[in-house]
Amino acid sequence: MIKTISKLVEVYGPSGHEDRVRNLIRGEIEHLADSVRVDALGNLIAIVNGDGTGRRVMLAAHMDEIGLIVTHVDEKGFLRFGRVGGVRAELCVGNRVRFESGTMGVIWVEKRDSPNTNPEFDHLYIDVGAKNRADCPIRVGDMAVFDRTFVVQGDRWTAKAMDDRIGCAVLIEVLRTIRRERISLAHTLQMVFSAQEEVGVRGATTAAYALEPEIGIAVDVTLTGDMPKAPTMAVDLGGGPAIKVKDAGLLAHPGLVQLMADRAKEAGIPCQYEVMPFGGTDAQAMQLTRSGSIAGAISIPCRYVHSASEMVDAQDVRSAVSLLTQCLKGPLAL
Ligand code: CO
Ligand code: ZN
Repeated sequence: MIKTISKLVEVYGPSGHEDRVRNLIRGEIEHLADSVRVDALGNLIAIVNGDGTGRRVMLAAHMDEIGLIVTHVDEKGFLRFGRVGGVRAELCVGNRVRFESGTMGVIWVEKRDSPNTNPEFDHLYIDVGAKNRADCPIRVGDMAVFDRTFVVQGDRWTAKAMDDRIGCAVLIEVLRTIRRERISLAHTLQMVFSAQEEVGVRGATTAAYALEPEIGIAVDVTLTGDMPKAPTMAVDLGGGPAIKVKDAGLLAHPGLVQLMADRAKEAGIPCQYEVMPFGGTDAQAMQLTRSGSIAGAISIPCRYVHSASEMVDAQDVRSAVSLLTQCLKGPLAL
């Protein structure tokens, strides 16, 4: 699993440019699913047939990561940029970024009147080492992502784009587990590796419309409250996967929350409950599609979400695979 994760988190894939992530995932799952297709938005949809007695269950994890988009190139070849998804300006300074072509850039900040306040995007620029505008290999509209390698330190895994490549890795591992253990499925699984989540759950919206799931489960990251002076949040890194109860876009179906908690207890899987005052996931698109579906989410606790160094715990990830597998094995009488 760790080999897959290291490939997934290091590859380039801001919203709308998920191609490389999609190709990687396709290579991992094509031989395991009954069918695989790509839709107009770039969602990768893998279908795993059930025996006809179960439900239609859509599982979603998003392939895209937050990024930066070039808005202007000046005469000296310095780039101004905006954000794609929830990037914070103060977390950009000093970071390296990488464009689709492989070009590396350094983010720096210009001299400001009040240097003790957080910088805004207007104050930042990217230096790709160009001598002037004509020499600059980057044009307006090009996107960059943070440039970081995957680091393993004991059970803690740190990388860019854990949000939500770790969710993609969980779905891949669930599929592998189902095949390896020859689990006979009642339910039909509609596994969606979604596009454009970070700009407003766009991929999951069209995928859910097409697939008409009865039950929808997203796998994504959530914040933790266990760092120094962190905002209060009853989720700890290493405390087990978090069963989502609420975020800004979803009130999870109470029956599904209970079912997840029961299956976790039966199987001895540690878990926590997640209530987040903001943020959203693909689950909200599934819940509100057509005439609605029963929706919830399993969240991987993650420190420093939407930074270049997002940290998860290996046991949480493995437990999330077990919990989701347990949920899909049994009846989903909701
Ligand atoms: Co995110
Ligand atoms: Zn996410």
